[in-house]
Parts: sequence; C-alpha cells; structure tokens
Amino acid sequence: MEEEQGQRRKHVVLVPCPYQGHITPMLQLGTILYSKGFSITVVHTDFNSPNPSNHPKFSFQSIPDGLADDDIYSGNIIAIIMHLNANCGAPFHKCLVQMMKQQMPADEIVCIIYDELMYFAESAANQLKLRSIILRTNSAATQISRIALLQLKEDGSIPLQDPSNLADPVPRLQPLRFKDLPFSQFGLPENFLQLIPKIYNVRTSKAVIWNTMNCIEQSSLSQLQQQCNIPIFPIGPLHKFAPSSPGSLLKEDTSCISWLNNQAPNSVLYVSLGSIVSMDKKELKEMAWGLYNSKQPFLWVLRPSSTSASSGIELLPEGFEEAVGENGCVVKWAPQKDVLSHIAVGGFWSHCGWNSTLESICEGVPMICRPGFGDQRVSARYVSHVWRIGLQLENDLEKGEVEKAVKQLMVEKEGQDMRQRAKNLKEDVELCIKESGSSSSSLSKFLEFLNLF
Ligand code: UDX
Repeated sequence: MEEEQGQRRKHVVLVPCPYQGHITPMLQLGTILYSKGFSITVVHTDFNSPNPSNHPKFSFQSIPDGLADDDIYSGNIIAIIMHLNANCGAPFHKCLVQMMKQQMPADEIVCIIYDELMYFAESAANQLKLRSIILRTNSAATQISRIALLQLKEDGSIPLQDPSNLADPVPRLQPLRFKDLPFSQFGLPENFLQLIPKIYNVRTSKAVIWNTMNCIEQSSLSQLQQQCNIPIFPIGPLHKFAPSSPGSLLKEDTSCISWLNNQAPNSVLYVSLGSIVSMDKKELKEMAWGLYNSKQPFLWVLRPSSTSASSGIELLPEGFEEAVGENGCVVKWAPQKDVLSHIAVGGFWSHCGWNSTLESICEGVPMICRPGFGDQRVSARYVSHVWRIGLQLENDLEKGEVEKAVKQLMVEKEGQDMRQRAKNLKEDVELCIKESGSSSSSLSKFLEFLNLF
C-alpha cells in the first residue's frame, strides 16, 4: 500500500456537510477518486465527524465549527448550516495553508471538492488560488424547484393566501403541486430563501458533480446545464461506483439480515425514515398498528431520534412487539443497501431522502413515500408521478390508511405494476453505469477534466 501511496500524484481535499445524507455520497466520491490514483484528505467539522477508521487510506483533518450545544440541540438545520458557513471559513483557510506548507511537489492539492451547503470552502480555496468543485447530493429536480421558489416569492405566488390551493399544480413545474415545493421545516422560510442562492451560485468553482443520472433526470439536467456556465458531471449513483465505502454515523445492526434470510421473496416491507425525519407518538402508534394489521412482514428502522421524544423502539405501543412476534423486526439502524438488495424485500416505506430514493431505484424496489420536508417532497412526487414506482401516503397517518397502502404496494395489482416499472428502471440504471453508459462516460470526462489541473 505504501508503494501505491508513493505513486499517487494528485491530492484532492473533500469538504462534506456534516449530515448522514451528505457525508455518505462525499465519502463515496472520495473512494472513487482514490481508486483512480488520487490521494484524499477529508476536512470535517467536529460536529457529526466521520469515523476515520472506516477509511484508513484517507487522511482526516478536523476543523473547529464554533457550534454551541444550543445550536446543535435546536435541530434547526438551516441555522446550523448558516453558522457553519460563518464559522468555518477561517479555520479551513488555516488548515489549507498548513497542508500546503507540508505538501511535496508530487502531492500538491489539485482541487477542493465541497458539498454545495459548505460554500465557505470556495472562498478559502479562491484566496489560496486553489480550484474548487461543487458536489450536489440532491436531485436535479430539487435544484430546479428551489430556484423556482425564489421566482414564486417574487411574483407573490407564495406564501399561498388560500391553503386550499396547496394541491394546485405549480406552473412550469409539473407534476409538482404547491405542497410538493421543497420548503424546509426548520426556522423561518425567509432564512431558507436566503440560503438558496448561496447553494446554487457556483461562484468561482470550476465544475459541478451531481449524484444523479441521465436515465432518471435527463431533462432537468439539461435545463440546468443550459443555465450554468461551468460543466455539470452527473456521475450517480455514486454508491454503485463505490460499493465498499462505509459511511454510517450510527452502528448498523446486521441481525436483521438473518431475519430477512427467513422471509419469502418480495414479501418484506422495509421501513426507514433516514437520519433526520422524526414523527410524534400518535403517528408512531398509527403506523405500528397499520403495519401489524396489514399482516405483511416488515423490517422497521426506529433510530433513537425517530420520534420527538428521546427514544424510538421504547415508544412502540404496549403489546405491539408481542403481537407482531416473528412477523416483524425492529432495529435502531440497518445496513440499508444490503437490506434493499435482499431478495426478501419487496417494498420500501421511505421519507424519500435522495440517497434512499437512489438506493431503492438501484435495487428495483417500489416505494411507499412519506416525505418529511424539503427535497423529500419533490422526490416523493417524482417517485409516484414521474417514474411511477411508488405511491404517496398523504394526510394524517391513520392505521386504516397505512394498512391499505401496504397491501396496495405489497399484494395488489397496482403494486405489482409499480414493482415491474421499478425493475425496468433498475435495468436503465445498470446501463448508465456500464462502461459506455451515461454516468460512466461522465465519470471518465470528469477524471480527464481533473487531470488537466
Ligand atoms: C438528508 C435529507 O433529509 C435528505 O432529504 C437529503 O436528500 C439528504 O440529506 P437523510 O434524511 O439522512 O438525508 O436521508 P437519505 O438521503 O436517504 O440518507 C440516508 C442514508 O442513511 C442512506 O444512504 C441510507 O442507506 C442510510 N441508512 C439509513 C442506513 O444506512 N441505515 C438505516 O437504517 C437508515
């Protein structure tokens, strides 16, 4: 390995945003670049820092993020992102200066790749005459609808005067309705609107890498490329190019795989709401009894912060676990990609975070969409109305509706059709990542681009 290190020529610095759904794709990108001969340093915040032992071939540098405990406990992600951008520029600059002092000519930094939310990295890079590249970890459709939010605000079309118009289509954004727009649930809407231009502005960056692919988002991607004066490289799904890149911040409970091994093919509904979305005790209860009444086996991830109270599994209704017995398995965190690729899994109840959506598409698993906030609403609408590989559970959670949706997806004809379309889409994605497929070609072009630096 040392010999291998000695041959490495170019050094890339990665700046992930400290949330699970962002750290994972950045580390996957690092794994891909490492395999192509680059050396990798990950500069991360103290908050939600990745575990270096998962990536022994990368270097990790921590920078102080200046977040107070109150900021972190508030859970207000928009405020946290703004604080990080205000606090991290100077320490990141200092960290880069230190790295540049120590670097050998053969291992000089060729570029900084930063998550779109960590835009402080661009100005530090720019001051040191280093090139920077943006990684976007959301869908292209989300980007388009975020930009549209600004226009709708300017026109006075939002906020809606009459909430009964929430189900109306948004002009030029079909099939999105006003209620699918990617508003954040954190803090004031004005704060989110202020953040949007900072996210989509490319400043002096040289390129955009996108964790998506042409086979599912071609028209959104070409629309964005027309508006963008630097190249966009859609090289998703990153996890398929970097299958061995562990990135979980929580410990995976692999016991659920043994439980899956005892279930019939396509029979299990996998239920997970990602790393941020939470629900209240009443919703949890309705969901639990709805799942039970469906009689369909389920694997349910209830991480400790799944409910607004402090713990998850302990909040399951009394008598639920005994009633369910072997027909259900509840864990705090699962090895999700292994679960989705397991033959027993026939459906995914998801909040439609972009990574979960991509992972489900890649395994041909149809979905029940229950989005929480932001981009999840856009993805849920695309899953149900563009790719038509799932159904969306709207309105208040009620056990009868839950039971109906589970049966619809898992046993009825409508669900079988969705499963077939999901399998077809999986095949399209397989073509994208094949040697001459669109994502593979885009990755090759990106590497050529990087090698010009
Ligand atoms: C956040 C936002 O909520 C989401 O809307 C945005 O698209 C990305 O950032 P998160 O809520 O965590 O992400 O969802 P998601 O993007 O789906 O990422 C979750 C990741 O955690 C996935 O890669 C998934 O495989 C992994 N996971 C989830 C596990 O490994 N085990 C689990 O039990 C649950």
